[in-house]
Amino acid sequence: MPSMAQGGFRNFTGSQKPGSKLSNENQNRQTDFSARRQKILQQRKSLPIASVEKRLVEEVRKHDILIIVGETGSGKTTQIPQFLFDAGFCHDGKVIGITQPRRVAAVTVAKRVSEECGVELGQKVGYSIRFDDATSSSTRIKYMTDGLLLREALLDPFLSKYCVIIVDEAHERTVHTDVLMGLLKNVQHARSNIVSDGQRSNSENTNVKSGMSLEKENGGQRGSFLRKHNNRKYAPLKLIIMSASLDAQVFSEYFGGAKAVHVQGRQFPVDIFYTRHSVADYLDASLITIFQIHLGEGPGDILVFLTGQEEIESIERLINERLKQLPESSQKLLTVSIFAALPSEQQMRVFAPAPSGFRKVILATNIAETSVTIPGIKYVVDPGFVKARTYDPSKGMESLVVVPTSKSQALQRSGRAGREGAGKCFRLYPESEFEKLEDSTKPEIKRCNLSNVILQLKALGVDDILGFDFIEKPSREAIIKSLEQLILLGALTDNGELSDPVGIQMAQLPLDPIYSKALILASQFNCLEEMLITVAMLSVESIFYAPRDKLEEARTAMKCFSSPEGDHLTLINVYRASNEFLEKRSMGMGNAKGEKALRKWCKENFINSRSLKHARDIHKQILGNVEQMGLQIASCGDDMLPYCRCLAASFFLNAAVKQPEGTYRALASGQVVQIHPSSVLFQQRPECIIFNELVQTNNKYIRNITRINYLWLTELAPQYFAVQN
Ligand code: CDP
Ligand code: MG
Repeated sequence: MPSMAQGGFRNFTGSQKPGSKLSNENQNRQTDFSARRQKILQQRKSLPIASVEKRLVEEVRKHDILIIVGETGSGKTTQIPQFLFDAGFCHDGKVIGITQPRRVAAVTVAKRVSEECGVELGQKVGYSIRFDDATSSSTRIKYMTDGLLLREALLDPFLSKYCVIIVDEAHERTVHTDVLMGLLKNVQHARSNIVSDGQRSNSENTNVKSGMSLEKENGGQRGSFLRKHNNRKYAPLKLIIMSASLDAQVFSEYFGGAKAVHVQGRQFPVDIFYTRHSVADYLDASLITIFQIHLGEGPGDILVFLTGQEEIESIERLINERLKQLPESSQKLLTVSIFAALPSEQQMRVFAPAPSGFRKVILATNIAETSVTIPGIKYVVDPGFVKARTYDPSKGMESLVVVPTSKSQALQRSGRAGREGAGKCFRLYPESEFEKLEDSTKPEIKRCNLSNVILQLKALGVDDILGFDFIEKPSREAIIKSLEQLILLGALTDNGELSDPVGIQMAQLPLDPIYSKALILASQFNCLEEMLITVAMLSVESIFYAPRDKLEEARTAMKCFSSPEGDHLTLINVYRASNEFLEKRSMGMGNAKGEKALRKWCKENFINSRSLKHARDIHKQILGNVEQMGLQIASCGDDMLPYCRCLAASFFLNAAVKQPEGTYRALASGQVVQIHPSSVLFQQRPECIIFNELVQTNNKYIRNITRINYLWLTELAPQYFAVQN
């Protein structure tokens, strides 16, 4: 019997040799297709969860809330929605919704399940994530991000099209998952009340504890919406919370002692290796370990956990360079990567088996920890780090920091090596370090800026944020700081109510409040065209890249785009140059030719083509959003002053001034920060700047910077600076 590692996916490898005649080819395809279907069926049957299908369906029928815990790879995400569909849960045209904390998981799993069902993606099985929707009116199994379902609740407060909602990967405890659970609790309650009453929702009386009232008037809009729909009968909503960690109790307690079931997994032994001493450079150590495995260990794929796109791409280049120096017989190592910003057509490559004789090395972020299960892995390389959000409410600053993983993350990572047979995990730190790790990761809601979530809750009619029934309450200080920020941005009135129209508009945009505000302001400053590009480019990781061996060339290339005003205009220059390039050749982005040509152009200019493509997709989407909202889209032409002033008006909370010794002081937080060497203003060091990102390594670096005039701050953000100074 073929092992699961070789399970199908032939069509993703591109290694098929086309037949010489068309009919031949067709026939081959037919045989391939049915062989593949056969194999998929076999794989499904052999998953641990397959043997408990009946029981699971019964439990869902019996309980309105069910918690399902099962080891990663047991088949929860791909199988349970299909079990429920087959059991008739969607008989009245309702939808099973499955939320994922990560975009990539939503997309790849939807693709897999549509294949398992033998249907086209976007029909019975689809996905919906921010900036990308692959669903239709016939979609019954819908994978989506947790954030997206929160947004859907703005338009459909009862989530009326769903019969079942599965909150998957709940152990990840993203801020959206946490808020979603609170919201779903209320929706479920409200829906069952409507059904039992037949007439009116009792939600106003019953949701006192949660601080949420679905009936509350909100600028007239939502109140009347709900009244209009109150006479409708809603079927009760089934809720399933799925988690890979064994600790189901916290969820069970939160949902009033809900029933939890455990699905037995299958786990082979994994040998754990530690380094003798701490390593100075974990990228370097990863590289060495990958080659030690490749040259010294038996067959099996390698999974390497890295912290982000930049690291993945740089190590990918290093592997391929080093491979060239090996004898040809040792060159059979194939690199594939998976991270959030990877274009969706490239995401499925990690699941394809390596061509025969090759070993695959998968470079992944913590996406591969529990969210996506990749077959064929025998070796795991774990440097022990993860990129995480941190928030300091006293300073109002959120930043991304590379931090050590928790113990439970390390265990999950090593577990990936033992799914199909015994495996090995190489932790790139000494064993004594493992003992010092935190047991589990702190929920994100405790370490992020809450303004985004609070704005959405306000738009959903939740007035009392401090009283909201969070599974774990964020600190009072963090809530208050975020409320203050929203008031400063004009999204909330001084009384904490959503402002009309600014707050309502901001809540409609799928962006961080500070970016939403920038777009709204830009329409007043007549530079919305420029700001749309800015926001799109700021939404992706690293547009420029500089390989270690070509630093000088990369710098020269970047100079062609750089603007003396700063990084924001530099990014606009890149974006516009890519437009011009395509226009000159009369190519669009939609076609393969245009994309290929653009990739080449990117390479020549040391621009990250994946990031640029992602930014172009985001641009298209938010352009659609602002058009729909009726904002005036104009360009400031050659005069960049209005644009720079608009940046100051939008990002005043991130203003900084130079200090005598050359570092900067962030005005809002008082923190001492430095300009990141990648900024075009690194040498010039203007007196006063705004920035968009704070990165913490040994130093606190700011990135994406533009020079501004100090006086603009008091003029354009008097609500903040007139009081402060
Ligand atoms: O959710 P859970 O971790 O329990 O498992 P799953 O994601 O449903 O994965 C079940 C099986 O499907 C695993 O054996 C995966 O390797 C396989 N799978 C796949 O081959 N390709 C995908 N795109 C997703 C899952
Ligand atoms: Mg899963």
